[in-house]
Amino acid sequence: MKILGILSIIFISINSAAAVTHSLRFLHTAAAGIPAFPEFVTVVLVDGQPFSYYDSQLRRELPRQSWTLQAEEPDFWERRTNKSIVDEQVFRSKVEMIKPSFNQTGGVHIVQLMYGCEWDDETGSIKGRWQFGYNGEDLMALDLKTSTWTAPTPVATFRKHKKDKDKGWAIRMNNYLSQGCPDKLKKYVSYGKSTLLRTESPLVSLLQKNFLSPVKCHATGFYPDRAVMFWRKDGNEIHEGVEQGQILPNNDGTFQMSIDLKLLSDSVEKKRYECVFQFSGANESIITKLEETKIQTNGVNPYEVIIAVVIAVIIFAAVIIDWFIVYKARKAADPFNVKKQMDL
Ligand SMILES: *[C@@H]1O[C@H](CO)[C@@H](O)[C@H](O)[C@H]1NC(C)=O
Ligand SMILES: *[C@@H]1O[C@H](CO)[C@@H](O)[C@H](O)[C@H]1NC(C)=O
Ligand SMILES: *[C@@H]1O[C@H](CO)[C@@H](O)[C@H](O)[C@H]1NC(C)=O
Repeated sequence: MKILGILSIIFISINSAAAVTHSLRFLHTAAAGIPAFPEFVTVVLVDGQPFSYYDSQLRRELPRQSWTLQAEEPDFWERRTNKSIVDEQVFRSKVEMIKPSFNQTGGVHIVQLMYGCEWDDETGSIKGRWQFGYNGEDLMALDLKTSTWTAPTPVATFRKHKKDKDKGWAIRMNNYLSQGCPDKLKKYVSYGKSTLLRTESPLVSLLQKNFLSPVKCHATGFYPDRAVMFWRKDGNEIHEGVEQGQILPNNDGTFQMSIDLKLLSDSVEKKRYECVFQFSGANESIITKLEETKIQTNGVNPYEVIIAVVIAVIIFAAVIIDWFIVYKARKAADPFNVKKQMDL
């Protein structure tokens, strides 16, 4: 799971699927220059959840879900292992091909390939994706409408022309992403239904560092990751002073998210605000009213802050008075004090 965390941070283009869509994604990562990180890793994600895992040290593909296809297809994991061993060889040679175009000999290199499909089980629409990334940036992607490549960087443009010549490959890949991939995805979803289609409600809490900082409404432990959060004032959604956080994975397959609200008014006003958590497409929502007693602080309450400020002022005043007294005394004792001489 730790590795997966690194992977999803590295590959910036992976974002969660929209409402009622299922997704199957294959993510290959070749890494060089990162100690303790395998040189090659493959993760298969179903609905954004790791379904299987392979790396160059294990040299075996292993399930990452409680539901597997072992019963239905006894050689499923052996076939996946065999495929991943081939993928590793192919991918490593691709990375060697790309490297010189970046003029880099040492340092960290991470080349990633992500491909897969999305299937909307209401409309039946299917979308495919095939894209390369280098050190966390998009390198090139297959445009499935035209079967050509889009390349955002000049190096990739050079490679793009080579790839475009192989139209046959692009067409075959296009067919796979619109046919073979969704078929597989539908099969996985039907087997993993009880896990993938479950709903887990979050625990929502209100947090505030101190009385000047924004109020954070934090929801954790929810599944799936298709959810929204917003703040309401007098029953209406507000955007001013609101900062929306991202949906992040927890280690146990659930998700967390938070949304901040900057409050400038006094505590009487607070009661008019509420934080709302909602699963996409669901009617029910979890509403948390902004009440003083419900806000957790990091052990610092406003009174403690006020007391601290008062103590600081007293200490400062004491220092000033002390300095003034010492100064006066010195002045009085100074035999060369001009003013004193004049007085004489
Ligand atoms: C996987 O590869 C091994 C070695 O090449 C082979 O013996 C085995 O039959 C393969 N398994 C499947 C399910 O293809
Ligand atoms: C790599 O180096 C060559 C020669 O030094 C140069 O012409 C080329 O532009 C460089 N490529 C990149 C991507 O920096
Ligand atoms: C949401 O509420 C409407 C009317 O209140 C109802 O018709 C619909 O079935 C509900 N949808 C869900 C997903 O519960």
